[in-house]
Amino acid sequence: MATVADVLAETGSSPIARHHALERLAAFVRRECAAPSPVVGVGGTVSDVSRSVIAVRGMSQTAMLGDGVLMRCGDGFYRGEVIRVAESHVLIKPFDDRAVPALGAPVFPDGTLRIAPSPGWKGRVVDALGMPLDGKGPLMPGCESMPADRPPPAAMRRARVDKGLRTGVNVIDIFVPMCFGQRLGIFAGSGVGKSTLLAMMTKATDFDTVVLALAGERGREVRDMLEDTMAGKLEKTVTVVATGDESPMMRRLAPNTATAIAEYFRDRGENVLLIVDSITRFAHAAREVAIAAEEPPVSRGYPPSVFSQLPRLLERAGPGLEGGGTITGIYSVLVDGDDHNDPVSDAIRGTLDGHIVLDRGIAAQGRFPAVDIPGSVSRLAQHGWTPEQKKLVTQLRGLIARFEETRDLRAIGAYQAGNDSFLDQAVTLVPKIYEVMQQTPDMPVSTDPYNDLAAALRKENT
Ligand SMILES: Nc1ncnc2c1ncn2[C@@H]1O[C@H](COP(=O)(O)OP(=O)(O)OP(=O)(O)O)[C@@H](O)[C@H]1O
Ligand SMILES: [Mg+2]
Repeated sequence: MATVADVLAETGSSPIARHHALERLAAFVRRECAAPSPVVGVGGTVSDVSRSVIAVRGMSQTAMLGDGVLMRCGDGFYRGEVIRVAESHVLIKPFDDRAVPALGAPVFPDGTLRIAPSPGWKGRVVDALGMPLDGKGPLMPGCESMPADRPPPAAMRRARVDKGLRTGVNVIDIFVPMCFGQRLGIFAGSGVGKSTLLAMMTKATDFDTVVLALAGERGREVRDMLEDTMAGKLEKTVTVVATGDESPMMRRLAPNTATAIAEYFRDRGENVLLIVDSITRFAHAAREVAIAAEEPPVSRGYPPSVFSQLPRLLERAGPGLEGGGTITGIYSVLVDGDDHNDPVSDAIRGTLDGHIVLDRGIAAQGRFPAVDIPGSVSRLAQHGWTPEQKKLVTQLRGLIARFEETRDLRAIGAYQAGNDSFLDQAVTLVPKIYEVMQQTPDMPVSTDPYNDLAAALRKENT
């Protein structure tokens, strides 16, 4: 915690450092004057230790679910969270899996976990607790600290979602157009191109800030994504990383931290793009924590609290108060064994305002992004299209649906040109549409995707 002496020591350097130091001093004074230090209250002692959870006696009468604690392990203190309160003990899950306290070790209350983002966080990579990971020096906290887990704005006070935007991915901008403040899921099995598509969307120029949460993904992919796919576009991006090898507490926290950062920028009036890769790994982490808290599994091993945490997290994205900024949320959903109706995918699909389905068969043909156009829907598409575009896209969707449903017939040679003019048109035009929709991360973003599509179709007709 900053002390007045720390702050004064910093004021001798540059004007920016002085400004940050004064910001920190203001935050410090506000915190100290508004509430007693969070490190007060009744502590306890460790009474049971296992790999998944730690039981503590002596805090049951004062601890609340979700409270933070500090545990002594060897010479250091480790942070944990109260995940269950029983009459005789509380259960604590540490944020660092290596924290294994001895029996009788002291545990102290530490208030709710809070983060304090600031505009200086853009271009930086942080962990789920908001600590820098990129070796670019300390991260200056902002003036306001907020809990990572906050309720969404009240439904009746939120602005309406009706202003279209461009993601820079042509197949989405034409067939599944989005609006500022919309929440969309990208559903696919493993290795079909979710992360690549999300990384392409971070380049969208319509947003002031991009917040990217990488929860439960491979450590190798993090640098690949930041340094290759998103290279040179990081100056307006805050990245929150909790890789698959981190504790379930960190993986569960990362999307919440990213959402809190997005809320901070939204409340400053900015249009924020929040990307979470992947929300399924968040659900897996929430399942691990809930099972450690002794909740019974109800659906495919998922305890009930997972299904209440999902909408709570997803509802926080969306528009802010009337006239303010927005959070446009894009969430990747890893569907279990390519079964699009598994309970987590179902729960997520029901909460979001649209879904894009990626298909393994399309990826196998080498067609990327492997978007299944007939299976993908944006519930707010009418705001993203002009009436002429809507008419055109409806016609093209009809052609694509016809082309796909006759694929097997055509493969066995049962198709003859001249019998069905609509099918003839589909056979001529759809491969061309598919070709124009192909896009790799290194391709420049099209300035007018409709124009490109029209030009390609015209060329085919001549
Ligand atoms: N737009 C694209 N252009 C070219 N190749 C692509 C594209 N999208 C995906 N690929 C190919 O598909 C592979 C898998 O993509 P990606 O890692 O994005 O899938 P994923 O669905 O995120 O996988 P996982 O479920 O394992 O996280 C990439 O390594 C790349 O070869
Ligand atoms: Mg991925």
